[in-house]
Amino acid sequence: MATTEIYEELAASGATGLLLRPGGLALTERALSFCSFPSGARILDVGCGAGGTVEYLISHHRLRAVGVDPSPVLLEYGRRRSDRLPLVLATGEDLPFADSEWDGVFVECSLSVANSADRVLGECARVLTEGGRLMLSDLYIRTASGAGKDCCLPSSSGNGGIMTREELTVKLKAHGLEVMLWEDESRALKEFVAQLILSPGSAVSHFWCPIDQGKGSGGELTTTFELIAGAKPGYFLCVAQKLVLHS
Ligand SMILES: C[S@@+](CC[C@H](N)C(=O)[O-])C[C@H]1O[C@@H](n2cnc3c(N)ncnc32)[C@H](O)[C@@H]1O
Repeated sequence: MATTEIYEELAASGATGLLLRPGGLALTERALSFCSFPSGARILDVGCGAGGTVEYLISHHRLRAVGVDPSPVLLEYGRRRSDRLPLVLATGEDLPFADSEWDGVFVECSLSVANSADRVLGECARVLTEGGRLMLSDLYIRTASGAGKDCCLPSSSGNGGIMTREELTVKLKAHGLEVMLWEDESRALKEFVAQLILSPGSAVSHFWCPIDQGKGSGGELTTTFELIAGAKPGYFLCVAQKLVLHS
């Protein structure tokens, strides 16, 4: 199953509401309170799905938010809620915006599913203004060595994959982004998985199967959960700042 199809199915099931990730708007709020953007600040949401965060940023915080996602189906869900939502068809690896155009960029659970985490981070750094903030929330591997990484990739995962905290910090630094906040939010991941399990027709086996057992084939939930537990996956919230270059 293609990466975007998994989220299109999840959105259609209604199992997690408007937002297709752990933590919901509480994590978005946490990042916002750390960053204190003035009203009118320009915010880009990369991998915005059905546009739940974009809608929230505009209506509750008066931010000038725009979302991009490679799924026309998910963008259409957003437009059906409000045809004025600014949603653009694009991938995080190839953002259709000029350099230094955004004060903040959100990437909420979309980095691990992208084809290239490096290219997405490079594009985020490029479009951020100097001193601008990148808000990331995503899965991460909590074993110190990264052991178990291969067996617990979400079936939705592209080559971006799940990283350890150290791996991500190094990648961010390579793109001129310095970590200012890192919080473990693994409780949100547990709650999200429980939400999926309890949803009618349990969407969880599609969402997260070990890759060596066939993606989304279902029917091996016990093994899946054993493998997931062994790799200690967690969820994090991170805010990084684009370094100011002195010439
Ligand atoms: C876990 S969902 C999160 C969606 C949204 N951020 C939210 O909070 O509901 C992952 C999203 O990443 C999108 N995606 C997949 N590949 C991507 C890519 N290469 N660049 C940007 N987004 C991508 C999917 O279409 C999906 O909407």
